[in-house]
Amino acid sequence: MDTPTTARSRQCSFMRTCKSGLSLWLVVWLVLGKPGPSAACPHLCVCYPTPMTVSCQAQNFTSVPVGVPYDSQRVFLQNNRITELRVGSFGFGTQVLWLFSNNITWIEAGSFSELRDLEELDLGDNSHLRRLEGGAFRGLEKLQSLHMHRCKLTALPHDLFHKLYSLQFLYLQENQLHFLQDDLFSDLINLSQLFLHGNRIRTLSENVFRGLVNLDRLLLHDNRVRQVNRRAFRDLGRLTMLFLFNNSLAELPGQALRDTQGIEFLRLNGNPWSCGCEALPLWEWFRGARVSSSELLCSSPSPRRGMDLRFLREMDFALCPLPDPGTLAGSTTRTFSTKTRWWFSKHKPQSQTKAVFEKSSETIKAFPFPQGKNSPPIVSSTNVKYELGEEEAALPKLDAEEYWANYENEDAGTTLRCFELECPPDFDGLPPNSSSTPTSSPSLSLLLALSLLAVSINLHLIFG
Ligand SMILES: *[C@@H]1O[C@H](CO)[C@@H](O)[C@H](O)[C@H]1NC(C)=O
Ligand SMILES: *[C@@H]1O[C@H](CO)[C@@H](O)[C@H](O)[C@H]1NC(C)=O
Ligand SMILES: *[C@@H]1O[C@H](CO)[C@@H](O)[C@H](O)[C@H]1NC(C)=O
Ligand SMILES: *[C@@H]1O[C@H](CO)[C@@H](O)[C@H](O)[C@H]1NC(C)=O
Ligand SMILES: *[C@@H]1O[C@H](CO)[C@@H](O)[C@H](O)[C@H]1NC(C)=O
Repeated sequence: MDTPTTARSRQCSFMRTCKSGLSLWLVVWLVLGKPGPSAACPHLCVCYPTPMTVSCQAQNFTSVPVGVPYDSQRVFLQNNRITELRVGSFGFGTQVLWLFSNNITWIEAGSFSELRDLEELDLGDNSHLRRLEGGAFRGLEKLQSLHMHRCKLTALPHDLFHKLYSLQFLYLQENQLHFLQDDLFSDLINLSQLFLHGNRIRTLSENVFRGLVNLDRLLLHDNRVRQVNRRAFRDLGRLTMLFLFNNSLAELPGQALRDTQGIEFLRLNGNPWSCGCEALPLWEWFRGARVSSSELLCSSPSPRRGMDLRFLREMDFALCPLPDPGTLAGSTTRTFSTKTRWWFSKHKPQSQTKAVFEKSSETIKAFPFPQGKNSPPIVSSTNVKYELGEEEAALPKLDAEEYWANYENEDAGTTLRCFELECPPDFDGLPPNSSSTPTSSPSLSLLLALSLLAVSINLHLIFG
């Protein structure tokens, strides 16, 4: 608990004398930041000036304490036992509001609607929060970061995220979501990172991600996805990272991946891939893609079990029916080379140490959490130093760095492959800059037909 007593001892050590500790502390407190009479600090809370911060964590509060000054910029209420949030609980000046690790079961519609300046709202680890009302986040038009991980959410109302135009980070992982409604995210034009892993999602419909035109990272691993609509990623042209590992996918439409033109990091392992003719569109996509990818082990048919879908040969698809030309209209075409040579980027995802906090405003830069082990004292946006309670600094708040820490070694064993005898002897690991880039050609089906012809001639030569 951060009480005036610990604040005083902190001040004492700072001044290296405690002889007249109490009176000295009082003087400093009066000079630095005596709040006005209307802004007294609530009982059991600690308040700091510049930016105006009210810290009430771990005090067994069962409701939002009364008397939180309306102009507090940062309000910390985590690790209490708050059960409900109601309209009028919060004032207008708050930019950062932490309510994680409480026992919130109900949020009244409009609870935050007076927080016009709110930029970060953390409701994570409220393990009894199963449902939300559609208007729960009404009015949060400046919200940049919304944390709702590890609650028990089973579904989300279709209008939950309406008008959250500024939202950049949405943390919904480790809930029990089994279904995402069409257009759930359609107002989130500024969303950059969407965390949905560790839920029970089964299908990705055509319009589920509609509107996410600035999405950079989409994490869907550890779900039960078995079906992805071929246009499910239609608006995700700026996506660079897609994680679908540990799901139930046997197939993935090639078109879905073609819509993510900027994809750099792809993880599709831990799925029961079917490697018969149904794998052709995905295999084809990999031929032209320059992407750092996990392995894709085949589960069926049995002769191909354990093979990597990406490295099947053209011959493996020789007996497959030609794709219906109608379904290929407008898609990228590419030549079939006789060599099968693959290049996968050696890059690993950068650990995004600074992702959340530096993209945000001045106030958020002044967060009281260390960004690294030996980070310097926190300096607020107006350059006034203030000290943190040890408990506060030690709180187990997840930050972006931790999210990405688990994803290193992304590509162990998957750097560069050169499969056939045609690989040049001096093949040195540099990307072949011409062979794997898609080239346009007049007719894919003509080329397909020609290559199949070539393959069957080969087969004739081999098997008589
Ligand atoms: C909160 O409640 C727990 C369990 O009843 C108790 O151990 C702890 O001391 C209380 N904390 C405060 C700050 O009162
Ligand atoms: C949280 O709330 C639920 C139901 O509302 C209750 O059963 C549970 O005991 C509460 N947990 C704590 C730690 O207060
Ligand atoms: C999207 O984010 C940018 C940069 O943060 C901001 O300038 C812009 O106003 C946002 N868009 C909307 C509609 O809020
Ligand atoms: C896959 O997801 C399940 C839960 O959906 C989890 O229990 C399991 O540990 C995950 N496996 C891997 C390899 O991540
Ligand atoms: C590959 O790139 C290098 C330099 O980027 C260039 O000099 C070379 O001509 C390119 N090779 C082909 C086959 O395009």
